[in-house]
Amino acid sequence: MAALTSVAASLTLNTKISSCHNGMMFGASTQALSFAPLKAHMVKRKQQVGGQTVCQAAVAADRVPDMGKRNLMNLLLLGAISLPSAGLIGPYLYFFVPPSTGGEGAGVVAKDALGNDITVKGWLDSHSPGDRTLAQGLKGDPTYLVVENDGQLATYGVNAVCTHLGCVVPFNKAENKFICPCHGSQYNNQGRVVRGPAPLSLALAHVDVADGKVFFSPWSETDFRTGENPWWS
Ligand code: FES
Repeated sequence: MAALTSVAASLTLNTKISSCHNGMMFGASTQALSFAPLKAHMVKRKQQVGGQTVCQAAVAADRVPDMGKRNLMNLLLLGAISLPSAGLIGPYLYFFVPPSTGGEGAGVVAKDALGNDITVKGWLDSHSPGDRTLAQGLKGDPTYLVVENDGQLATYGVNAVCTHLGCVVPFNKAENKFICPCHGSQYNNQGRVVRGPAPLSLALAHVDVADGKVFFSPWSETDFRTGENPWWS
């Protein structure tokens, strides 16, 4: 009889614990709470706050990881996220890094239509005197390498971007001029404007040879064709 009374009391207490606090259940199931002996460090309290009964339950202290373990788990999680993220972000950021120009003063290596470095020997072997052929110049601009009438490479290159609205201007060998196909502007064989609507001559770049390779570098001196300061620098 005493045992039955104890069980009934336990069930009554458990029902109160489970049904209070807006119906939220804390801890184990009803039966488990009824019959399992409560541990000393399990906290289940009822408090009177403002006339209402508030139940509190805490998780067993031995089930909470200590701070050292929690920090270790955080570090492992951080490492697991950081490594793959760095692998993805690195190439993404590298995309925005401008290509090297080879250092100030060295200029950039001229490249042919296939993207190969241009050597002075290879160029002069395949291009005759008077030739103007496009190469990849400063900032990727199409730039003419000029072979002088004596068969030597000129020390200047002619930027092919029309100063009117930016079309690429081809060289007309028969006319010995650069003639823009867009609106008919004309430039002499050194790129000086001789007919509009283009307002300015084609830009210049220095051409130098180092280790057998052809380099472009910025032209900031007087424009030898007009005797004026370069408008492009
Ligand atoms: S873009 Fe060359 S003349 Fe207009």
